[in-house]
Amino acid sequence: MAAGKGTRLKSQLPKVLHEVGGKPLLAHVIAAATRVVPPIDVFAIIGHEAVRVRSAVIDTGINFVLQSEQRGTGHALMVAQSALATYDHVIVLSGDAPQIKPQTIARLLNFHLDEQAAMTLLSTDLDHPAGYGRVIRKTSRKHAGSAEVEAIVEEKSASPAQKKIHEINAGFYVFAVPQLFSHIEKLSTANPHGEYYLTDMAEVLRQARQRVVVWKTENSSEVLGANTRAELAAIDLQIRMTKCQQLMADGVTIFYPATCVIDSDVEIAPDTVIEPFVQILGRSRIGASCRIRSYCVIRDSEIGPGVLIRPGCILEAARIGPGAVLGPYSHLRPGSDIGEGAHVGNFVETKNIKLGKGSKAGHLTYLGDAEIGAGVNIGAGTITCNYDGVHKHTTTIDDGAFIGSDSTLVAPVRVGKGAYVAAASCITGDVPEDALAIGRARQIVKEGWARERRAIRKPTEKKPGRIFLEEV
Ligand code: UD1
Ligand code: CA
Repeated sequence: MAAGKGTRLKSQLPKVLHEVGGKPLLAHVIAAATRVVPPIDVFAIIGHEAVRVRSAVIDTGINFVLQSEQRGTGHALMVAQSALATYDHVIVLSGDAPQIKPQTIARLLNFHLDEQAAMTLLSTDLDHPAGYGRVIRKTSRKHAGSAEVEAIVEEKSASPAQKKIHEINAGFYVFAVPQLFSHIEKLSTANPHGEYYLTDMAEVLRQARQRVVVWKTENSSEVLGANTRAELAAIDLQIRMTKCQQLMADGVTIFYPATCVIDSDVEIAPDTVIEPFVQILGRSRIGASCRIRSYCVIRDSEIGPGVLIRPGCILEAARIGPGAVLGPYSHLRPGSDIGEGAHVGNFVETKNIKLGKGSKAGHLTYLGDAEIGAGVNIGAGTITCNYDGVHKHTTTIDDGAFIGSDSTLVAPVRVGKGAYVAAASCITGDVPEDALAIGRARQIVKEGWARERRAIRKPTEKKPGRIFLEEV
């Protein structure tokens, strides 16, 4: 179920697209659903901002059902009737509870099948159950110790005594499809929200003499829903701490993990060290024995083994070869492909470039749309002029070339193998292999010029009206 607006978030963005652990709530739930063993068909019920929600998760290959008017969780299942008609059982997941595990879904299903129930719900005990539906179990002597359920009562309709119940409805269910749809019409909107509550199916089915049972999980954090910004933040923190624990268990050193932000889908190989205040985001993959020093932000990048990233680097969709050294303060924009053992240093910005094996760009440089070979030395302050205001052009620098400091390379241009560009050159034409290009004005020396200038400028008297401190 992912059709709701998420009123309590006070947001333009539909609730299920709010992110925790670096991806939308719904993407987490879909990932869990698609990993259930044995595999199940997955449908997302979408409605509020359906186009936007669908396109955010379309790459998962799941199916969609449109609930164009959102009249409650019970109504969501009503509109899914024709899509689900041919199945025996349906597992219902809440699109806003992202920590659910595939194993838990499978256990809920197995419990449902073992109990031969018409409806099985997942519950847990919460210290602070406010806001959740409460599970009312059957308590007569006949049912003592059984899993049978009398009803689910929503917070707003609960009596003071019912509000004291700590066992909450987690929002995950399994239904026998024929029983669900032969009784779903009995749901009513006679409640404080005027909605069709799926939770009312517990009472509806029980009154129809169908078996309704509950399976309680000990792991209550798995079922927490993100209804408010505060709940979003709490769940995000939980997901990231779990991620850090997992990485550490797999051999990654993380100093001061509470300061590191690592997204759910990030992969890091053993013996890599992550220093405090590092963010590793999106689909980044980091090889073994790297060191990522403080204040780096790395997104969707692939980093080989043995790479050193010094403090303050920003990487986006970059590829870094084994043993390369970056930073401090390098900015690698999309399409930066840094070769094995290469070095990108202080205040160097790169975009859509290939920097060959062992090449170096140590300081204060912009390299955009460039093909740079192996063993190239890029002097401080070098700039590739890749944009003419309309089009982008490529700079090619062949193996072993040496670009002197403060050079501008006006693309399209090629510096041949082993060629030299003299410092402060403006290179507008190709430089042949092994040549030296000097593209700057010849130096002029004017003997005594500075002394003469000082003589003219020497102040002879103080300007009137100006107050000097020592006179006050
Ligand atoms: C629901 C349960 C509550 C339970 C809690 C667990 C009901 C009536 N209440 O409350 O007992 O403790 O989940 O988290 O079900 N949705 C639709 N279409 C709709 C309305 C909602 O698809 O018309 C989706 C929402 O996008 C959301 C999910 O269903 O992903 C749950 O809806 P929400 O409004 O968050 O229900 P809760 O108030 O949290
Ligand atoms: Ca919810």
